[in-house]
Amino acid sequence: MILNDPKIALARAGKINPASIEEFINTGGFESVKKALKMNRGDLLDYAEKSGLKGRGGAGFPTGMKQRFTSSSCQTCENRYVVCNADEGEPGTYKDRFIMESDPFLLIEGMILAAYSINANYAYVYLRGEYYQSIDNIKNAIKLSYENGFLGQNILNSGYNLDMDIYLGGGSYLCGEELTLLESLEGKRGYPRIKPPFPAEKGLWEFPTLVNNVETFSHLPFIVNNGFETYSQTGTAESKGTKIFCVSGNVQKPGIYEFPFGITLRELIFDIAGGMKSDFSFKGALLGGAAGTFVNETLLDTPLAYETLKKEGATLGSGAVIVIDDKTDLKKMLSSILSFFKHESCGKCVPCRIGTTILYDKISSTDFTADDLKFMLAEAEYMAKNSLCPLGQSPVLPVKSFLKWFVL
Ligand SMILES: Cc1cc2nc3c(=O)[nH]c(=O)nc-3n(C[C@H](O)[C@H](O)[C@H](O)COP(=O)(O)O)c2cc1C
Ligand code: SF4
Repeated sequence: MILNDPKIALARAGKINPASIEEFINTGGFESVKKALKMNRGDLLDYAEKSGLKGRGGAGFPTGMKQRFTSSSCQTCENRYVVCNADEGEPGTYKDRFIMESDPFLLIEGMILAAYSINANYAYVYLRGEYYQSIDNIKNAIKLSYENGFLGQNILNSGYNLDMDIYLGGGSYLCGEELTLLESLEGKRGYPRIKPPFPAEKGLWEFPTLVNNVETFSHLPFIVNNGFETYSQTGTAESKGTKIFCVSGNVQKPGIYEFPFGITLRELIFDIAGGMKSDFSFKGALLGGAAGTFVNETLLDTPLAYETLKKEGATLGSGAVIVIDDKTDLKKMLSSILSFFKHESCGKCVPCRIGTTILYDKISSTDFTADDLKFMLAEAEYMAKNSLCPLGQSPVLPVKSFLKWFVL
């Protein structure tokens, strides 16, 4: 069965010229901003909360709750910020780039809604420096939004002011982590901060800051235009709306696909991505990128949703679906993930700096046996408990799931 495919973040993709604000407006663009600016901020916060939208950057934190925390913390602060995380460093993930390349104004529209709802007057897009087309598109979209009165002073004569700018990331995976990103945005070296405090409390320059992913912001206009009831009817019990899946590997039609949560891996790979290429058969998948989890054919019919995957010890993460075939060298694949973590560890704390090296050295050793995986799991679990930031807590996910689903 192929599910219906209502699109939200990719509704205009390929249908309009992404550089044209006229085409965006003619297809309903900025309608939600007109509606929202007449609404009470509390009602707007309710919209996000009641929709059930969860962050699409990987952790799946409820978006409305984050907006509410940010809007209510530090009532004496004279500034409040909105930051879009467009760093997209997770291996196998390329959905944010696609949104920014195909519908950049949608992101701006979503950010205006979020900024208005928490009463922020400044917003930044922290954008991966190698995403040249996205950079051009977002710069153009910001410029045209200013020229047409959707950004700047007194937006649409509402009395509300919002300035927006873009900041380019230098290529560090760790700078996608929200607090590290804020350090980098402040012009400092990309080292993580200790949590708490969370950005909602003390973020950019110590002011309350709402950090969300590109895909997350892109859902807000739909929710405001169509109502939270309509939005929450799509998806599953605890995973509302649609999700973009980035399918790669030896399938017939690798690419990005937006579907409601609840679609199964079998439907995604065999119905939508056309199945395996000839001469290859399905062995499993890595869900969520390097900081994700391996699954095998046992989970082919499990609905892809936060709650169902969690029960299986798996995660959807950023939405990467890296398909593994029968000819894939599994040890090499795990080794490549561990080499990535070793390279991206910032070295600030010992458990991660030394731990990522131990894991990589172990899997690369000439006398490696499958039994060594158990030692590696113990090491990864130790790192997860003792590392300073979530990067050091990540290797346990691929190592543990690898042991669960595969035999070397
Ligand atoms: C090492 C690391 C890298 C991350 N990279 C990204 C990223 O590139 N893009 C992103 O949106 N979130 C990334 N995150 C998650 C962010 O810290 C944060 O949870 C997210 O931006 C919040 O937005 P959301 O609630 O809309 O998902 C990363 C987290 C970690 C630990
Ligand atoms: S866990 Fe790793 S990436 Fe995070 S601070 Fe420690 S060394 Fe740096």
